[in-house]
Amino acid sequence: MIFSNLLIKWYLQNKRDLPWRNTTNPYPIWLSEIMLQQTRVAQGMPYFLSFTTAFPTVFDLANADEEKVLKLWQGLGYYSRARNLHKTAQLVAYEMSGIFPDNYTDLLKLKGIGEYTAAAIASFSYNEAVPVVDGNVFRVLSRYFDIETDIAQASAKKEFAALAFELMPKDTRGGAELSEANPAIFNQAIMEFGALQCVPKSPNCGICIFNESCAALQKKKVAELPVKSKKLKVRNRFFNYLVIADEINNTLIQKRTAKGIWHNLYEFPLIETDQTEDFNYISERIQKEFLQEHTIISIQEHNENTIIHKLSHQHLHIKFWKVTVNGILENGIDSATLTTFPFPIVIHNFIEAN
Ligand code: ADE
Repeated sequence: MIFSNLLIKWYLQNKRDLPWRNTTNPYPIWLSEIMLQQTRVAQGMPYFLSFTTAFPTVFDLANADEEKVLKLWQGLGYYSRARNLHKTAQLVAYEMSGIFPDNYTDLLKLKGIGEYTAAAIASFSYNEAVPVVDGNVFRVLSRYFDIETDIAQASAKKEFAALAFELMPKDTRGGAELSEANPAIFNQAIMEFGALQCVPKSPNCGICIFNESCAALQKKKVAELPVKSKKLKVRNRFFNYLVIADEINNTLIQKRTAKGIWHNLYEFPLIETDQTEDFNYISERIQKEFLQEHTIISIQEHNENTIIHKLSHQHLHIKFWKVTVNGILENGIDSATLTTFPFPIVIHNFIEAN
């Protein structure tokens, strides 16, 4: 049997029943594909369900406040995905009568929709013959064909896309649901095969349908493929959050409006430093730069150990400082209101625990 037929046969017998697979409606397909970037299905699923419940159509998402969208996205990370999702929903709802573009090239023009997502929507919704290339596809093809191209290189995508396109059945008749060997099923199948069978660590090649034809298995190179060079050094940042409490236990938060991480999310007043700083240093800066109108009653370091919050390119070393002040804060908010704002998960967790 040819590669695609074997793969699709495996898929039909082993696929997970996932809600975004029972539809050709581009709206839930788009939502799921944005959510599942850099995210496992088990982690993304509750978010997919809460989004489709809160926003059953692209119009509901478009009409929502950005803050509500960010709040529902809280904990999923890479928050630019949520902001772009919202902007694109507004474009589709208000400029395109709620109808998504029906082809790869036009999908690619939308904010937040890159090559992968455009290919996923074009194939799953419209059965267009465009290959998806994600981490699963790199892994499956690099092993099956013993390809040593460094997948961290920009040119790798083109190479693997060309190969996937060759392997893909091109039957685009009748839409995605009619044929058993078409671009839509092939794309789902190769990703599912990478997610369930051809897994990154210690795959069970003994039971693999390709164990007589896989080049990497024959050459004992499964563990070495795909080749991926290490990314750039991470940047270390030191965040000191001031958890200020006034006489009625209200506190202050601010919106992060600067470009970069956590844009438009909320946080406590922040002192960012170049290294870990001690009590004396932080106390002095609080007295000099913050709360001039209030008498500071006490300053305490909240957690003994710094929390290290790892993002893809940054490691954040986070300390929370509890600052108690006299009087009533002008823009203070109470603890019930506090929980309604969208926060980075590390701050949300802190609030929940304290
Ligand atoms: N990860 C990304 N897209 C996916 C999909 N359509 N099904 C399962 N996992 C995925």
